[in-house]
Amino acid sequence: MAMDAERQMAQLTLSDGRSLQLPELSGTIGPDVVDVRSLYGSAGVFTYDPGYTSTGSCESKITFIDGEAGILLHRGYRIEDLAQHCDFLEVAYLLLRGELPDPASNEDFAYTISRHTMLHEQLTYLFRGFRRDAHAMAILCGVVGALSAFYHDSTDITDPHQRMVASHRLIAKIPTIATMAYKYSIGQPFIYPRNDLDYAENFLHMMFAVPAEEYVISDVLARAMHRILILHADHEQNASTSTVRLAGSSGANPFACVAAGIASLWGPAHGGANEAVISMLQEIGDVSRVKSFIDRARDPADPFRLMGFGHRVYKNYDPRARVMQSTAHEVLGALGKENEPMFRLARELERIALEDDYFVEKKLYPNVDFYSGITLQAIGFPPSLFTVLFAVARTVGWVAQWNEMIEDPAQRIGRPRQLYTGVPERPFVPIEDRG
Ligand code: CMC
Repeated sequence: MAMDAERQMAQLTLSDGRSLQLPELSGTIGPDVVDVRSLYGSAGVFTYDPGYTSTGSCESKITFIDGEAGILLHRGYRIEDLAQHCDFLEVAYLLLRGELPDPASNEDFAYTISRHTMLHEQLTYLFRGFRRDAHAMAILCGVVGALSAFYHDSTDITDPHQRMVASHRLIAKIPTIATMAYKYSIGQPFIYPRNDLDYAENFLHMMFAVPAEEYVISDVLARAMHRILILHADHEQNASTSTVRLAGSSGANPFACVAAGIASLWGPAHGGANEAVISMLQEIGDVSRVKSFIDRARDPADPFRLMGFGHRVYKNYDPRARVMQSTAHEVLGALGKENEPMFRLARELERIALEDDYFVEKKLYPNVDFYSGITLQAIGFPPSLFTVLFAVARTVGWVAQWNEMIEDPAQRIGRPRQLYTGVPERPFVPIEDRG
């Protein structure tokens, strides 16, 4: 495919000699895209890109990633600056509304979110229908989907006010649902939200408090929670966000769409990686065994991969991982856990992988999940809750992207095509004539 820069048209020549002009579109930053929407209509061929490695699925103004340079921007702001200077709800406001809030809007937004944190009491019975040993992601998926059965007054997606109320509800209620899933699994009473606490403090409170005694929230841990939530809030058109958009493109309600996003996030190649990091560290068990696991990761015949290393988009360094790395050290230091065997093991794994030829050549750096897994483990979250926490943070991104999609006048149902490799048409054989 040759580009004609002057007319900003790309030229595609097919094997039968036909030549087509396809418009080249430019964003504000980032690679241009070749607009192939007319391709099938004019040439009768599809593009083929199963992992979407070269496909832009939508136009968006929310998040920009330059994977080569290791840059992540939300609405133009660097993730490092947001993580250092903002609390989570400021970033949520930015993602949803496009601008950072002024002090009054910030307060107003925090107030609104805090007024939606409680759940309809009937929903508590839904939790009781799950087995106590159910994975918290399974419960989260089910309960978030069920919100559409409780909040009918915010499921009309054509009404901007209802869309906004649904967005606020999802952001406000997801920590309550996540922590209730945890409390249910360990047989403790549900802890209700408190409006005098900020978003991260309230999350820690609902997670770790018990009615029998006061829970004192550590500033370091609350700050770490804000950072973890900010770093996971949005990440452009990743698998779960694309799932939310695709589900939403049919006109499904936002609660159902976010439940679909949660299902997609659950997989170990996506949000499940932070949990997989801890399982891997437990499996390695001792610093002396790190090398043998690195050797396994290098072996093409062995499916084993180092969890928490590598990224589809960041081929240099994940900027979130850098912030998360310093947060991990801060938390481990504050809790006096730097020298616990698991964290020494993690540091050794990181050191060896960063020097190893295979990892260096393939540009497989520790990703955000490597450090968030370690930090969450140190704070006291059980590994089965790690992905749930990711989902709590990513709900903001899902909701922002879903709203953007619904408001886009060019929005159509997402309907990819395929390269069919099955049996061509053949005559039907009645059952008595078969075999
Ligand atoms: N350990 C060992 N080898 C690896 C790893 C790893 N963690 N990741 C990639 N490779 C190898 C892979 O075998 C392949 O080798 P070859 O070229 O010889 O076939 C090469 O590197 C490219 O890998 P890929 O699977 O084609 O790359 P991808 O872009 O499709 O996958 C990934 C990206 C994140 C799924 C993958 O790196 C991986 O499985 N990492 C471990 C799981 C993980 O940490 N996931 C969290 C991702 S970050 C959170 C998020 O944003 O959701």
